[in-house]
Amino acid sequence: MRGACACAVVCALVALCAGAGLDEATRAAAERQLLSLLGLPRRPARRLAPLPPVPRALRLLYADGNIPAAAANTARSYHHTPTDLDNRFPAEHRFRLYFNLSGVPVDEVARGAELTFQRAPGAIGDQRLLLYDIVRPGCRGKTEPILRLLDSVLLTPDKGIVKTDALSAARRWLLEPKDNHGLLVRVIDENERKMDAKVPHVRVRRRASEDEEEWNTVQPLLLLYTEDARAREARENGETRLTRKKRAARRGHRSHHHRKEAREICQRRPLYVDFAEVGWSDWIVAPHGYDAYYCQGDCPFPLADHLNGTNHAIVQTLVNSVNPAAVPKACCVPTQLSPISMLYMDELNNVVLKNYQDMMVVGCGCR
Ligand SMILES: *[C@@H]1O[C@H](CO)[C@@H](O)[C@H](O)[C@H]1NC(C)=O
Ligand SMILES: *[C@@H]1O[C@H](CO)[C@@H](O)[C@H](O)[C@H]1NC(C)=O
Repeated sequence: MRGACACAVVCALVALCAGAGLDEATRAAAERQLLSLLGLPRRPARRLAPLPPVPRALRLLYADGNIPAAAANTARSYHHTPTDLDNRFPAEHRFRLYFNLSGVPVDEVARGAELTFQRAPGAIGDQRLLLYDIVRPGCRGKTEPILRLLDSVLLTPDKGIVKTDALSAARRWLLEPKDNHGLLVRVIDENERKMDAKVPHVRVRRRASEDEEEWNTVQPLLLLYTEDARAREARENGETRLTRKKRAARRGHRSHHHRKEAREICQRRPLYVDFAEVGWSDWIVAPHGYDAYYCQGDCPFPLADHLNGTNHAIVQTLVNSVNPAAVPKACCVPTQLSPISMLYMDELNNVVLKNYQDMMVVGCGCR
């Protein structure tokens, strides 16, 4: 973390935290580097309004620390964008939903897309929800729309929410945003096939009496699960460097502790990164900060087992003890890191949940 003993994310965070002592150019460079590590082209525009509420489903995923689609490390949430077209769908049983995915970075690949509906009060069941991708919209009086059925779900009386799968549509929109004509939601009576449902089923339209806040908690929500380029690379490399190191570290863990030296030698030290101090509290929803830790200390000869040294570090330390001018001592660096989850607002005010690798130091060692 100092001098040649470098690190990535934690270093940039430390530089920003210590921001008071930095000139503006250095601070901006540190912020840029950190944002790029987080996979963001720039910091989202500074906002004065308080952060909008985080959809409950996303809060649960954050608390859970797990994204329910294989390989995904990001969850993005979307609400329907109201337009004039909505007026052409005045009924409750036939509605068009439009989700603007234009803010998804090009390196992200869709791994799952779940559209959830809330049941309406008084819903009884015996109905079926049909979800279609509008491949080509119709032209009134001339052509019929081209629809592709995405999902068909039986609405039972007990269900509080209804989940549907919109992955193939989301994939199509990410490839060709201009071909995104929205989704068509239809609800039919199960028994009288094809008859559109007359009784309450799921919430698709805002009621005149409903305020924004109330509507936000019940309106349809699209959760898009993606895998970004970093996560893909890490996964494709299979066993990463760090997991190998972890194993080496575990092997070398029988520690002989020299109490006297314990203060100065290489070890993990506390470092709390406060996002408010970094100036990011206006777009990071949660956490407010986290324990990043850092590694610092001496790597003395002979290198003790618990210092997690590699054979190379042992040799380097040995050479240094004989001839300090020839090579420096080994460096005290993170040998095991762990991920954290962050909830933030993107440029278009959609809430995003992302798991970031290698954000927190678990173990240090001499390398
Ligand atoms: C989607 O969002 C982008 C970025 O804000 C905007 O330029 C575009 O017009 C939106 N598309 C629609 C159809 O609303
Ligand atoms: C060595 O690594 C292990 C496991 O990663 C860790 O628990 C231990 O604290 C590390 N040693 C030091 C000096 O940090």
